[in-house]
Amino acid sequence: MKAKAFTVLESLEAQAFSCTNAGSTLYGSLLAGLIDDYRSGGVTAELLEGVSAAPMHDAVPLRYLATAHRLALAGAAPTLARWYGSCGGAWNGHDISDDFLQVAQTHRSEFVAGLQRNVQTNEVGRAAVLASAFALIARRHHYALDLLEIGCSAGLLSRWDEYFYDTGSSALGDPASAVRFDHSWWRTPTPDLGGGVRVARRRGSDISPIDATSAEGQLTMLSFVWPDQAERVDRLRRALAIAARTPMDITQADAGTWLAQELGNGPTTGVATVVFHSIVWQYLPQSTRAMVRAALETAGELATAHSPLLWLRMEPDTPQRANVRLTTWPGGHEEVLAEVGYHGADIEWLQPY
Ligand SMILES: C[S@@+](CC[C@H](N)C(=O)[O-])C[C@H]1O[C@@H](n2cnc3c(N)ncnc32)[C@H](O)[C@@H]1O
Repeated sequence: MKAKAFTVLESLEAQAFSCTNAGSTLYGSLLAGLIDDYRSGGVTAELLEGVSAAPMHDAVPLRYLATAHRLALAGAAPTLARWYGSCGGAWNGHDISDDFLQVAQTHRSEFVAGLQRNVQTNEVGRAAVLASAFALIARRHHYALDLLEIGCSAGLLSRWDEYFYDTGSSALGDPASAVRFDHSWWRTPTPDLGGGVRVARRRGSDISPIDATSAEGQLTMLSFVWPDQAERVDRLRRALAIAARTPMDITQADAGTWLAQELGNGPTTGVATVVFHSIVWQYLPQSTRAMVRAALETAGELATAHSPLLWLRMEPDTPQRANVRLTTWPGGHEEVLAEVGYHGADIEWLQPY
């Protein structure tokens, strides 16, 4: 039997519920007003109806909110920006949907275009658990890391070594960095971040990459973060500033095709080749997943102690938590390194060191 497709109204209601419960009371309240507008056949209904056959799956409500946020960030919607912390404003808890709807009426063509844009985030908070894993890999294999990230978005996690991590008992990264992770990110016992990690090379790919070095790309990234999540907005802004001065190669490609090509000659001698991804697997078609696995297994057969290959991934485990798995070749041994919240907080490190 075919799964029931959710309606626009149901997706708005689900989004309101999830915003209210996942840290944006501003968006929760705003969506309540937008739902009323939708029910009465207002501009919300005119714009959202027909955008997608699967409005919930395609996160149409988030596209709607992000389009307005983008205008506010760009200075084109000051009546809305005054309520958004990300734009220097402050919200006093009242219903701001009239201001939002006014912006939607005035900027219809921007909304029509914005509603076609896929929701695209790059969660810098995930760097802390990945850094913990990179430290473990470097300690085990004694080589610099050759990093290949699939589904890398703007590449903010590939630049993880530009940030600073301090568990309270060990530290890693750039001590002068503007992006900092303190002990509160890890539960005890914390992982050992010591021993030093060198990055020999970083490359990434994404089916729809964002250029973090351009003003346009930065605006796109910021628009998808919820405006009252001050800490995330601030961390993203800092990471984008670092990305702007830390160039990296990001290829627009399907993960399977790209990896097959990059690993075609097997892992390089004298480095630890690390393929990694976070919250990407669920978005990959079956054929791409099969290609990723095949590329890894084929290259894994060529791996040696002097050319190790590692597959590191942070992917959903339960509805609340992700886990971090590592497969190591030669041998193909798989282990769970950590459990962690989807945005990278509350790391439970499971590996002895
Ligand atoms: C939820 S985002 C995660 C981004 C990033 N890894 C992070 O943790 O912040 C999922 C990413 O997967 C990318 N993606 C989806 N399908 C893909 C494919 N077939 N090949 C490569 N990337 C893909 C999307 O464009 C998006 O950037």
